[in-house]
Amino acid sequence: MSKITVDDKACILCGACANVCASAHVYELGSRASVAVRPEACWGCGQCVSVCPVDAIDHDDFPLDKCPPIDERHLPPIDDLVNLFRSRRSNRTFSDRDVSREVVRELVSIGRWAPTASNNQGIDWIAIDDRTRIAELSEATVRTLLRVARLARNPLVRLILHLVLGRENAQAAWRGLAGAQSLADRAQEGADPIFYRAPVLLIGHTKTRNPFSRDDAIYATYNLMLAAERHGLATCQIGLFQLPLARSRKLRRAASLPEGRVPQVCLVVGYPQYQFRRMVLRRIPDLVWNPR
Ligand SMILES: Cc1cc2nc3c(=O)[nH]c(=O)nc-3n(C[C@H](O)[C@H](O)[C@H](O)COP(=O)(O)O)c2cc1C
Repeated sequence: MSKITVDDKACILCGACANVCASAHVYELGSRASVAVRPEACWGCGQCVSVCPVDAIDHDDFPLDKCPPIDERHLPPIDDLVNLFRSRRSNRTFSDRDVSREVVRELVSIGRWAPTASNNQGIDWIAIDDRTRIAELSEATVRTLLRVARLARNPLVRLILHLVLGRENAQAAWRGLAGAQSLADRAQEGADPIFYRAPVLLIGHTKTRNPFSRDDAIYATYNLMLAAERHGLATCQIGLFQLPLARSRKLRRAASLPEGRVPQVCLVVGYPQYQFRRMVLRRIPDLVWNPR
């Protein structure tokens, strides 16, 4: 349980800590100061420490010397932010340059500032920067996809998948699997059709397949991807590896995914061979106000 105390000499009874703690209800306003009446309910988001205008909260998970003030001057203006979003692309051509482990560590660390359901912070990462190992994983993935594609030609298997996945998902699965042979052909010609010869493969994994684990991992990944761009790096999410990895014991072993961990997201990182020079257009999403 976190130890939380409020300095009653500093507290100005503004109520901000109690108001932002709207789910856990750790705080109540006393006559002289706010009081952490339910520290056992704290889920460690740190919003109370973050919002207090007079630094009156002493929370042992968030010592003030480790929680620097937010400086608006260091936050990008909206146009810069949008330009960053619009300039990020998935890259499938990498230069031979290696990525330092220090940079990879920093990127993974940046991922943790993303939101997670109930602040569970449950994502961990495997980084593979051994090119031979990445090539082996690529070959193993192609073999797995080919095996599943062959299996899916069986009408009974098709029927079962149709029933289990539903019509649309099953059809999407056929389309994906139909491409397995062309992946194998490209691999045969010496290409890496899964990881594009990227120097680093990252696998984000969580303990359980809880309903939000994937969301948690994706938010972290997107932070990581945007930060990678600012390091001059490029990334590409690799669903084509993540899906078979989640289902194949062989691939799990090959990737050294620990027992009981679920792969939620896989991506490659490397220095791009080409720079993208233009932003492109995207479909404008429908937006319906107050539908009835
Ligand atoms: C969930 C997910 C899975 C993806 N899997 C792959 C993949 O297996 N191989 C690949 O080359 N790109 C993959 N991508 C990248 C998408 O193709 C790419 O994001 C999309 O074409 C838009 O292009 P952009 O990222 O350059 O804006 C994936 C993206 C997402 C979000």
